[in-house]
Amino acid sequence: VGLAAAAKAAGKKYFGSATDNPELTDTAYVAGLSNVNDFMQITPGNSMKWDATEPSRGTFTFSGGDAVASLAQKNGQLLRGHNCVWHNQLPNWVTAGNFDNATLQSIVTTHCSTVYVATRINYILYSYSWDVVNEPFNDDGTWRDDVFHTTIGDGYVALALKAARAADPAAKLYINDYNIENTGAKATAMLNLAKSLLAQGAPLDGIGFQCHFIVGSVPTSFQSVLEQFTALGLEVAITELDIRMTLPSTPALLAQQKTDYQNVIAACNNVKGCIGVTIWDYTDKYSWVPSTFSGQGAACPWDENLVKKPAYDGIVAGF
Ligand code: XIL
Repeated sequence: VGLAAAAKAAGKKYFGSATDNPELTDTAYVAGLSNVNDFMQITPGNSMKWDATEPSRGTFTFSGGDAVASLAQKNGQLLRGHNCVWHNQLPNWVTAGNFDNATLQSIVTTHCSTVYVATRINYILYSYSWDVVNEPFNDDGTWRDDVFHTTIGDGYVALALKAARAADPAAKLYINDYNIENTGAKATAMLNLAKSLLAQGAPLDGIGFQCHFIVGSVPTSFQSVLEQFTALGLEVAITELDIRMTLPSTPALLAQQKTDYQNVIAACNNVKGCIGVTIWDYTDKYSWVPSTFSGQGAACPWDENLVKKPAYDGIVAGF
């Protein structure tokens, strides 16, 4: 039983993985990623971000994103677009103070519309969803003080969603964030934002839970948080799952990691509106964790030699 096969049997739309352009020259890696028994969906880890798609104002480059989208098309996999509006990986020209409110609104609209239109024309058949807005909140539930919120205010979220919907009516439109997987101020802030957007009639379809977790401390209220969002009529998805440990890995840590993966998957499995799961790359060889969290790693279900770890069986058992 593969990961995607298990997800499908449980009634989910997909199980998938993030990938990134530099990895696509690794033939053994690509063969694993293209095994639709494990992966029915892929997400570009970097190449659809703003710095990659609109490096200078009005100049759009789609080659990196297209390479990932073409692979999905070739494999018959769904695509999750990631992302349109985010405080990170912005080109230098998108900086607070450079633009007044009206100008930045027009820039956000053009960016979201153009990125979606490119996707729609080329890949309408399998572009399942987009993370339209990524990480709008601080951990205490206040708005992140980024160029978009500082210049436009709360309304930038609805603005981006509307531009995306107008450009690609078929895609499910998401807000995506981390540290919203347990009850608390940040999850409450996201819930209130979702309610307010739905009350305004903004085109919001789903909430993405990144799920960058730590072995031995995965959230315990995850399922009930997911249910709070599906109760609003939204779908939810696990969008960037990995479960890191302090290196070196040991058999005990790998066993705990298996249990942790199983529990996270089970939370999604128990919620009908949790429609799919994406891991933030499938192998430790290409995980973002070691370069971001010093001394930590081994977060993926395959090791750096592309060999399955106990976590793989934990995922299957969770569905
Ligand atoms: C990460 C990529 O995986 C890295 O390659 C890059 O250097 C930084 O961004 N949350 C997100 C993702 O929404 O876009 C981030 O991806 C990981 C955290």
